[in-house]
Amino acid sequence: MPMKILGLESSCDETAAAIVENGRKVLSNAIYSQIEKHRPYGGVVPEIASRNHVEKLPGIIEEALKDAGETYDSIDAIAVTYGPGLASSLLIGFSAAKTLAHRLNKPLIGVNHHEGHLHSVFMKEDAPAEKDVYPMLGLLVSGGDSSLVLMHGTGKYELLGSTIDDAAGEALDKAAAVLKLGYPGGPIIQKTAEGGNPKAIRFPRGLDGIDRGKWIYKYDRDLCFSFSGLKTSLLTYVKKMDHEPVGDELRDIAASYQEAVADALTIRVKRALERFPVKSFSCSGGVSMNKILREKLTNLSEVTGIPLLLCPPSLCTDNAAMIAGAAYEKVRMGKVDKEPIDVNPNLKLADWD
Ligand code: KG4
Repeated sequence: MPMKILGLESSCDETAAAIVENGRKVLSNAIYSQIEKHRPYGGVVPEIASRNHVEKLPGIIEEALKDAGETYDSIDAIAVTYGPGLASSLLIGFSAAKTLAHRLNKPLIGVNHHEGHLHSVFMKEDAPAEKDVYPMLGLLVSGGDSSLVLMHGTGKYELLGSTIDDAAGEALDKAAAVLKLGYPGGPIIQKTAEGGNPKAIRFPRGLDGIDRGKWIYKYDRDLCFSFSGLKTSLLTYVKKMDHEPVGDELRDIAASYQEAVADALTIRVKRALERFPVKSFSCSGGVSMNKILREKLTNLSEVTGIPLLLCPPSLCTDNAAMIAGAAYEKVRMGKVDKEPIDVNPNLKLADWD
């Protein structure tokens, strides 16, 4: 019997519900993006986010059920993001999921938002079986996180490195703000960069060139990211100009900045691939939408001969399908732990056993 899971996601500014069959087949993927509500502030305002989740979530759940041709009775379980994320936002999806699970007498599966992103690369028709790809190196790049994760198997994680300051998406969002291009920055920087020269300005790639020791906490410095210097370097560059950049000048700045972000990520992936004998590597999260990053990683895959799994574009930014998908894996592996009793805004990736 196929298992259909209703997933809910509300960790930041997307209100989402989806129904997924057997962890991979997306029957529906309803998303309400609050971007317009946060745009005037140049970033996510937690209070506005949680209030919008309250308003939109019931309708989004109905939409997910309708699109999939399912009912509350026909779904087998409910999955929900319980961290990491904004506490006030997480609580809305979590309370809804908990109420539904109890009212319908169906299991509630708590999912780590990052696990959802990591699982998303398997949610397409031609994705390989999980047994064929592990150990796998995962590059997780979103608005709130940038990490390199070594996955020894389903639900077996080893964090190799992480950003020590801003996330890659945050770096792009901040750059767009500096250049007065709007929010969110990733897609706008990509669009502005079209036709620009990526070699026009040499922005820093983070943590390179200054030897301050091999370790950052317990992580290898070579596998960690830093984007705060890049952002400062853009700010300094723009301040030194005696006018606001437009036209070719603006295109060159955007292209060079995007290149620096994509390079910083690809360099660390390459190093990790050289050190750890993996069967494949993957890229997921909102920044994995980026065309230049996808090109660089595809090229790395061709050069190394190591297969690359890229997140399908429809599942790169926050969505509930990836949550329902990861929840199914927990069920399949018999790793559904006790029903989570609360949200955890600082939830870390942890092994399932
Ligand atoms: O995964 P996501 O929805 O949020 C978190 O879970 O944090 O990712 C959002 C991030 C934003 O920072 C946005 O600027 C970035 O993904 N993003 C992109 C692109 N589309 C979205 N970054 C680069 N290129 C894109 N095309």
